[in-house]
Amino acid sequence: MSNRTRPSVWVLNGPNLNLLGTREPTIYGAETLADIEAKCRRVGDALGVDIRFHQSNAEHQIIDWIHQTRAEAHGIVINPAAYTHTSVAIGDALRACDLPVVEVHLSNVHQREAFRHHSYVSAVARCVICGAGSDGYEYGLRYLAKLLGDATE
Ligand code: DQA
Repeated sequence: MSNRTRPSVWVLNGPNLNLLGTREPTIYGAETLADIEAKCRRVGDALGVDIRFHQSNAEHQIIDWIHQTRAEAHGIVINPAAYTHTSVAIGDALRACDLPVVEVHLSNVHQREAFRHHSYVSAVARCVICGAGSDGYEYGLRYLAKLLGDATE
């Protein structure tokens, strides 16, 4: 990554993740979204990666951010939350942007209700991480930093 500008990774978060810390802490943990953002920024600094961090409860806003990544980002870490299981549109937006995508879930969705076992994002993602709590974001950033670094060697 030495001879180019720092890669930019956008970390996108879907509905209800703004409630982390108080929302079902036995499933999602005690950390707030602000804690997770701070962790992503620390990891990004250590890896030499610029981080843009967003959360929205609105599907169209998430889609608009994905469209923006086409011009402004080198990779995406996304926790689409419940839209994972419902949104063909978010899957299509990610497919259209042609950037490496990491899908992250705090909980292990495969140990939960059957409706959480299907994802419209996994088929587009290079890497899927679930059940590692907020560390999943860190692992996703490390994966993308290595991928983007290798691509420039
Ligand atoms: C989640 C899992 C989804 O099934 C759920 O709708 C969420 C959060 C997770 O991070 O574990 O809101 O994406």
